[in-house]
Amino acid sequence: MYKKQQKQLAEQPASWLVTGVAGFIGSNLLETLLKLNQRVVGLDNFSTGFQHNLDEVKTKVTAQQWNAFRFIKGDIRDIQTCHEVCRDVDYVLHQAALGSVPRSIEDPLTTNANNINGFLNMLVAARDAKVRRFIYAASSSTYGDHPGLPKVEEKTGKPLSPYAVTKLVNELYAEVFARTYGFETIGLRYFNIFGRRQDPNGAYAAVIFVLLITAFRRIFSPPQQLIRQLLIRCTMLPLVSGQRLPACMI
Ligand SMILES: NC(=O)c1ccc[n+]([C@@H]2O[C@H](COP(=O)([O-])OP(=O)(O)OC[C@H]3O[C@@H](n4cnc5c(N)ncnc54)[C@H](O)[C@@H]3O)[C@@H](O)[C@H]2O)c1
Repeated sequence: MYKKQQKQLAEQPASWLVTGVAGFIGSNLLETLLKLNQRVVGLDNFSTGFQHNLDEVKTKVTAQQWNAFRFIKGDIRDIQTCHEVCRDVDYVLHQAALGSVPRSIEDPLTTNANNINGFLNMLVAARDAKVRRFIYAASSSTYGDHPGLPKVEEKTGKPLSPYAVTKLVNELYAEVFARTYGFETIGLRYFNIFGRRQDPNGAYAAVIFVLLITAFRRIFSPPQQLIRQLLIRCTMLPLVSGQRLPACMI
């Protein structure tokens, strides 16, 4: 199926906008699209993304593929910028947002401005530009306090942080835009993604560390003392903005 899609795209290149293109997921999307000979516009304000992510992508594609990429340094909180980047675009892959639950607790206003105002700007601009589809990074945080496992799309609980509120509001807006304006939107609720170009000090890297310890414990059943030491290191790990990992996750 994926192979078929790749072939189809390569035969009929489209224009894509990737917001948050200098970030972890955005830069991986960029690399994949360029390798499929697509035309890509990228937007980023470098708040948590990096020029070196873009530089690395450049080393992984041909010069011709790289020339099909246009980067705009700008902010989704500025509606004019959003209109400019949506011009002549077929598909929007909207990744730009401020991650990190602790950051949102510390500064809910900034998270709200980026993740809700910025999101709404992008929806309006994409709708006005008549893009074919708006695909956005939703989040597993939308499952909130619902205890059910495995997770089922419709079974969501109450949000547990300002960040989770913003991701839930994104889904509400996207649905309303689909109903009200017939504008096609798809939200993908990412769980914890990890991989190349992930910022080791970023919002999600820590979770993977916890999962690795959990797996280690399950597979090798190490002595309790060793687990305790790992737990202490884990909970005290000096992460971004003093973030601490909840030991209850382990
Ligand atoms: N990584 C995960 O496991 C995970 C899980 C759930 C949801 N998500 C969501 O996926 C998306 C991408 O996450 P990521 O892990 O690549 O994070 P990231 O921080 O690496 O990338 C986000 C990018 O958006 C840019 N950005 C932020 N605010 C912006 C603004 N106002 N204007 C323009 N650019 C802006 C940042 O500079 C950064 O390059 C985010 O929406 C995030 O909430 C990620």
